[in-house]
Amino acid sequence: MQKHNKIDKLKAEVRSHKTDNKKIGFVPTMGALHEGHLSLINIAKKHADIIVVSVFVNPTQFNDPGDYEKYPQNMSKDMEMLKEVGTDIVFAPSEEEIYPEKDNRKFDFGALEKVMEGKHRPGHFNGVAQVVSRLFDIVEPDIAVFGEKDFQQLAIIRKMVKDHNYPVKIMGAPIIRENDGLAMSSRNQRLNSEQRKSAAFINQILAASKNKSQHLSVKQLEEWVTDSLNKIAHLEMEYFQIVDQETLQPANNWQENCDKIGCIAVYCGKVRLIDNIKYSF
Ligand code: PAJ
Repeated sequence: MQKHNKIDKLKAEVRSHKTDNKKIGFVPTMGALHEGHLSLINIAKKHADIIVVSVFVNPTQFNDPGDYEKYPQNMSKDMEMLKEVGTDIVFAPSEEEIYPEKDNRKFDFGALEKVMEGKHRPGHFNGVAQVVSRLFDIVEPDIAVFGEKDFQQLAIIRKMVKDHNYPVKIMGAPIIRENDGLAMSSRNQRLNSEQRKSAAFINQILAASKNKSQHLSVKQLEEWVTDSLNKIAHLEMEYFQIVDQETLQPANNWQENCDKIGCIAVYCGKVRLIDNIKYSF
């Protein structure tokens, strides 16, 4: 496994594989890796010959400076996990390497960015697009894998790739969970043991809402999830919204043609967690 901090070195190595007709698979991460990240790498390995993983905590996507400062980092453990899973190339650039000067680019994602994460974390998706487009320009992957835990991020990336004609195939990967159902997240490390117990209810309530969806309206189900969640100690819901899986626009009823997804953001103490559940009829 090779590790590069510099764009030139990374590009030279990727190019040498490309001239050998190897397909490049890419998994961007912010490190503090867990099984969720590794599952993306395993999917990439099925569809590409050479796997590049980036580890970069991107400052431009944090709308909350406290969240950025407290974002967990553990490069030596990450390197062990990346080696174990069979990563070929790790790209771990400095901030100056990615942003030699301030990135002033503004992306327009239309209605996609006006809801949920886009609404509650102003500037977040612009920062994600800045770094992912930059990374795509550097790595020039054939495929890139993103997790469905960040369902709206995946939709944003797909739109960016379409609008800007990036020659990369985007693949979505299912959510990997802890045994008690909590979606794996680097931020889970910041929960104390009491908070960690409460956090498991997020998925448990979402899972129960799937059965309830048979006999409650969209509105009633949103209310039921909100009420159930806010009863749990340490949890405070920011939003729960049932939207169309394609357009991410709020669903009015279950009968419309498209499949629905319920997306949630919850504060557990000071730690902000997200999760989602698909409803299909
Ligand atoms: P990060 O939160 O490190 O996540 C990296 C990738 O792992 C994302 O595609 C995310 O959706 C996926 N992922 C995280 N937890 C997962 C889980 N439990 N199951 C499946 N996939 C999971 O998302 C980012 O970083 C950044 O925004 C990034 C795309 C790297 C841009 O900075």
